[in-house]
Amino acid sequence: MAKPGKIRPILTVPDPRLKTVSEPVATVTDDTRALMDDMLATMYAAPGIGLAAIQIGVPQRVIVMDLAGEGEDPQPKYFVNPEILDPADETLPYQEGCLSVPDIYDDVERPQSCRVTYLDYDGKRVTEDCEGLYAVCIQHEMDHLEGIVFLDHLSRLKRERAIKKVMKAEKLKASA
Ligand code: NI
Repeated sequence: MAKPGKIRPILTVPDPRLKTVSEPVATVTDDTRALMDDMLATMYAAPGIGLAAIQIGVPQRVIVMDLAGEGEDPQPKYFVNPEILDPADETLPYQEGCLSVPDIYDDVERPQSCRVTYLDYDGKRVTEDCEGLYAVCIQHEMDHLEGIVFLDHLSRLKRERAIKKVMKAEKLKASA
């Protein structure tokens, strides 16, 4: 059973830690669960729909997500050592955002469906089909585990412009 977690600071681009390739988790322990509790609390507070551990500076292959719609009960999901299987040949664009790239949104083209296999909060193996927002979100979060942010899928010009904008906004926030 999940416990209330603590809100941790979220890294933003161009923090070099976001380029880390995260390490697999050997076993899902109480420490892993405490990390997932903190990640979920951090994601809800932001607010966001997905978060990878590296976004709070922890280079482990762990993701949390909640795709519940407005007014629906929370549907927290926890992914340890996730792997994408059978990505569709057909791709779709979706306007993505990221808690590490605040207030920037742009279209990214990704396989429209895939499967994902992972260990859940209790360390049990789960394999699911993903489509729609779930497919977009899991592929976006998987990228974080490889040190990739969605800006890396855009043109260099767009990426550099976005990073400058984020740096400026973060500087203003720090001086406020
Ligand atoms: Ni992200």
